[in-house]
Amino acid sequence: MRRLEGKRALITGAGRGIGKAFAEAYVREGATVVLLDIDGDAAARAAAEIGEGTEWRQLDVTDVDAVDAVVESLAAEAPIDILINNAALFDMAPVNEVTEASYDLLFAVNVKGPLFMMRAVSRAMIAAGRGGRIINMASQAGRRGEALVTVYCATKAAVISLTQSAGLALIRHGINVNAIAPGVVDGEHWDGVDALFAKYEHLQPGEKKRQVAAEVPFGRMGTAEDLTGMAIFLASDESRYVVSQTYNVDGGNWMS
Ligand SMILES: NC(=O)c1ccc[n+]([C@@H]2O[C@H](COP(=O)([O-])OP(=O)(O)OC[C@H]3O[C@@H](n4cnc5c(N)ncnc54)[C@H](O)[C@@H]3O)[C@@H](O)[C@H]2O)c1
Repeated sequence: MRRLEGKRALITGAGRGIGKAFAEAYVREGATVVLLDIDGDAAARAAAEIGEGTEWRQLDVTDVDAVDAVVESLAAEAPIDILINNAALFDMAPVNEVTEASYDLLFAVNVKGPLFMMRAVSRAMIAAGRGGRIINMASQAGRRGEALVTVYCATKAAVISLTQSAGLALIRHGINVNAIAPGVVDGEHWDGVDALFAKYEHLQPGEKKRQVAAEVPFGRMGTAEDLTGMAIFLASDESRYVVSQTYNVDGGNWMS
């Protein structure tokens, strides 16, 4: 039996990486998916690759007016059952080298974006009166600080907190809000992380990836597909009694 039959999901940052893998997995489970990304071409390509059951919109999650307009127009077409707040940016610097521009950008995309997506989608879900599911992408980076990852870690800790507050506020409307905290997931995102570590720690390209992979108890970096099971579970009726939680899906990197 397909676990998301008849459900309609919005996924931000779905043009590539983990968001795209979630879109594929949801369609396999019977959902229809709207792929949202600031990179409209990437969203269009990903939707075309996945095929039937997808549509796409260009959306910058930091633009609150655009978020409201896109969510309102999508909700007017058909009810929204699931939101995955997946879009995020990464940057690195120790506290003595942090720039205001990096702080403003990361908090805008990683914290303001998910918050106002939740506001818009929860309003639509409450108006439709059929409950819903919201899944936020946190990170092991939100569980503890890292010397070189000052701002990104703080944004992901904020996502865990937003998940708790939103979950407590929305469960009375039948809307479950939970989060996933991945560890190290291979892909274009981590290529960028690797390049930044190479700069700060004077490493060869690829060396940081090999180090982090060797440290994962499971024995390798994660793949986007390693996360899809949790994303399906948290969107399905099987998770109806799960509220305000952040689940580690990280091969054993972090325990809480
Ligand atoms: N890859 C990892 O190791 C890892 C680990 C922990 C958590 N995560 C989290 O998982 C999520 C997905 O990560 P990923 O590796 O697929 O990242 P990615 O960089 O490969 O993809 C992110 C997508 O978000 C889009 N995006 C960026 N800014 C946007 C904006 N303002 N509005 C809309 N879309 C925007 C990008 O165009 C891109 O398609 C992120 O929240 C990330 O923080 C990733």
